[in-house]
Amino acid sequence: MPYETAPPKNLSAISRGMLRWYDFHARDLPWRIGPKARKQGKRPDPYHVWLSEIMLQQTTVATVAPRYAEFLERWPTVSAIAAAPVDDILGQWAGLGYYARARNLHKCAVVVCRDHSGIFPDTEDALQMLPGIGEYTAAAIAAIAFDRHAVVVDGNIERVVSRLFAIDTPLPTAKTEMRSRAADIWPAKRSGDFAQGLMDLGSAICRPRSPRCSDCPISSACEAFAKDAQEEFPKKAKKKAKRKRHGAVFALFNSKGEILFERRPDNGLLGGMQGLPGTQWAEKLSGDLFADAPLEISWDEVGEITHVFTHFHLTLVVYIAQVPKGFRRQPGRQWIAPAKVSLPTVMKKAVELAVNKIGSSE
Ligand code: ADE
Repeated sequence: MPYETAPPKNLSAISRGMLRWYDFHARDLPWRIGPKARKQGKRPDPYHVWLSEIMLQQTTVATVAPRYAEFLERWPTVSAIAAAPVDDILGQWAGLGYYARARNLHKCAVVVCRDHSGIFPDTEDALQMLPGIGEYTAAAIAAIAFDRHAVVVDGNIERVVSRLFAIDTPLPTAKTEMRSRAADIWPAKRSGDFAQGLMDLGSAICRPRSPRCSDCPISSACEAFAKDAQEEFPKKAKKKAKRKRHGAVFALFNSKGEILFERRPDNGLLGGMQGLPGTQWAEKLSGDLFADAPLEISWDEVGEITHVFTHFHLTLVVYIAQVPKGFRRQPGRQWIAPAKVSLPTVMKKAVELAVNKIGSSE
């Protein structure tokens, strides 16, 4: 059946147009109860909503979808995840970004089980008291899991709203204004569907580049569209250049092709994850790099990898060597086959380079 919508004339027409569009075009996502099932009375499991929202913080839907299924299979309930050793969660988290989020995932599950009898609270205020749940995530869970009238504003929704109202103030200053404009169009009913509809619209139609305005259910109300200036919104304050950091890592191989790994300290970036031994990450590589190598031998430099963190660019020089006879592994370091170790992405890049080079030198 072709989809049609009357041109919105006022703010409530915008929300009606959006919801009607969502009814036809909602993405099928593994954590989502779609609009049809919802109308038939099916409600999402708050544990599923919470887990997906934490995983989606700073990570794309495409990356999260298969990883979400793995998490859910391993830990089907909040009490299962609360009872799991935090190291298992950190291992399963590899490649999903900041490990503080995985630590908070575990902490939050423990608090929900200990203080809330394993049942997620259903208000924004109570949700925000939980570890790892900030303003956005509390609103998203309150709206999606409990249909609370919570105004959810993520990056996609900021883009939609800033275009709809041609908001001239640059981000991040514009956030308050965007929130209040979003509140103006937020419907009293179907809050969760509306939030997810805006997310889907931002992802499929109101894209950063080449928005598909001819398929947009609310283009006739869109001020940026009327001015033919869609891509000029949201306005952004000029970014400061990211700082640069440098370091070196050492991949020591044994005769079985295993590498000597060490667990990173619990606090700090990539806390608790396995990694290659190496130097501190500093503005410049200086001093005796090899003082931080696992042993004093001749190391071969095999190249560099780069990785972009939120606040800095990292360049790591990668060194490799074969372990000499009689080497005694230091405490806290372990031999692990590269295929069997869970690594953060930056270390994966370094290990891949090291493994390729050792392979080609044999
Ligand atoms: N991004 C963050 N939360 C999301 C959700 N619930 N659905 C789609 N994309 C999202």
